[in-house]
Amino acid sequence: MYNFQYYTPTQVIFGRGAELETGKQVRAWGGTKVLIHYGGGSVVRSGLLARIEESLRAENIAFVELGGAVPNPRLSLVYEGIALARREKVDFILAVGGGSAIDSAKAIAYGALDEGDVWDLYEHTRKAAGALALGVVLTIAASGSEMSNSSVITKDEGMVKRGYNDDMCRPKFAVMNPELTVTLPDYQTACGCTDILMHTMERYFTNGGNMELTDAMAEALMRTVMKQALILRDDPQNYDARAEVMWAGSLSHNGLTGCGNDGGDFATHGLEHELGGMFDVAHGAGLAAIWGSWARYVYRSCLPRFERFAREVMGVTAEGTPEEIAEKGIAAMEDFFRALHMPTNMRELGIEPTDEQMRKMARMCSAAAGGKKGSARVLYEEDMYEIYRMAR
Ligand code: NZQ
Ligand code: ZN
Repeated sequence: MYNFQYYTPTQVIFGRGAELETGKQVRAWGGTKVLIHYGGGSVVRSGLLARIEESLRAENIAFVELGGAVPNPRLSLVYEGIALARREKVDFILAVGGGSAIDSAKAIAYGALDEGDVWDLYEHTRKAAGALALGVVLTIAASGSEMSNSSVITKDEGMVKRGYNDDMCRPKFAVMNPELTVTLPDYQTACGCTDILMHTMERYFTNGGNMELTDAMAEALMRTVMKQALILRDDPQNYDARAEVMWAGSLSHNGLTGCGNDGGDFATHGLEHELGGMFDVAHGAGLAAIWGSWARYVYRSCLPRFERFAREVMGVTAEGTPEEIAEKGIAAMEDFFRALHMPTNMRELGIEPTDEQMRKMARMCSAAAGGKKGSARVLYEEDMYEIYRMAR
């Protein structure tokens, strides 16, 4: 087992009616003037925003609001949020929504305490000087941003999508009421389940570390999410399935399922971030479209893991060589994506990148990762290009 540090400072308030605790939580964490940041309006339509406002008023906490965070949240809105937070002397940021609103809120939290251009952080030219305290009311189980140290922002000019990780932006609290997710379109529920699976798969497919307990937790998490995702496909109102998936979403990306390994692979995420930037696709669907091609390209370099995944997660019982078992596991995963109506290639995702565009994505993906990425197999620009070609 590799040495590791595990830091998950987020207070979790989980269950029915949890959002009514929001005002008390903000007060407990010292917030006196709040910027509520949300997305395209689902929280207005559902009445959630009104309930949050009420819970802040009940604690005599002043607030201002900024909506408009879109999937693949934009830097331009982050700048607007930073200006608003400074002007209004905000001391607490409250994200109400999914990964996009949360990530945008994290960027605002950095920028409010930073004299320079916040995009520098996402270009990795320097570290954040600080961040305003941040809380979350989660409305979609997907990104894990409610407990993660990461934030992913898209620069409008050139649509460049980049992530920045820093423990400073881990939310102080995360309010998670699974009931809030029943208004999600089925497509978003499926995208969310895919992203949750992928956050653990990225940590699981590694060539580093012997980590029996972590593996067992990772496998349980993946089996649970797959089972509950199919329940939700047929019965979207199912509270217990919503709850299982929501909790899995947080545990999948708060570091737990990677303790003791080498940091994981994360190449599928890197490849998807270029798709999200260039074509503005939903993150979970983009991951599903790439994963099978990535897996077939790398599995021989990480055979014991792929064989174990086939047996322990996908339930493959057939006899065969390790290669045959691994391939059966990959095919079974793709069958699962199809069962969720997720794409298994870029055409099914609705995009047909030209050769030039695939070369550009490979170049940008490799540059963003400092020239190479991956643990299951280390990928360079040419490998990334091949995977895009396979995923057409
Ligand atoms: O904007 P609104 O109107 O709220 O609509 C959203 C959006 O259209 C809608 N939605 C959310 N909750 C809803 C709802 N509609 C009805 N009822 C509800 N309860 O769903 C759509 C998707 O929302 P979004 O926030 O974009 O989804 P998600 O949580 O999947 O976030 C995606 C973003 O997170 C990044 C992705 O790259 C992408 O930009 N990620 C962030 C990570 C992190 N910070 O740790 C890690 C991930 O790997 C990921 O990269
Ligand atoms: Zn993700």
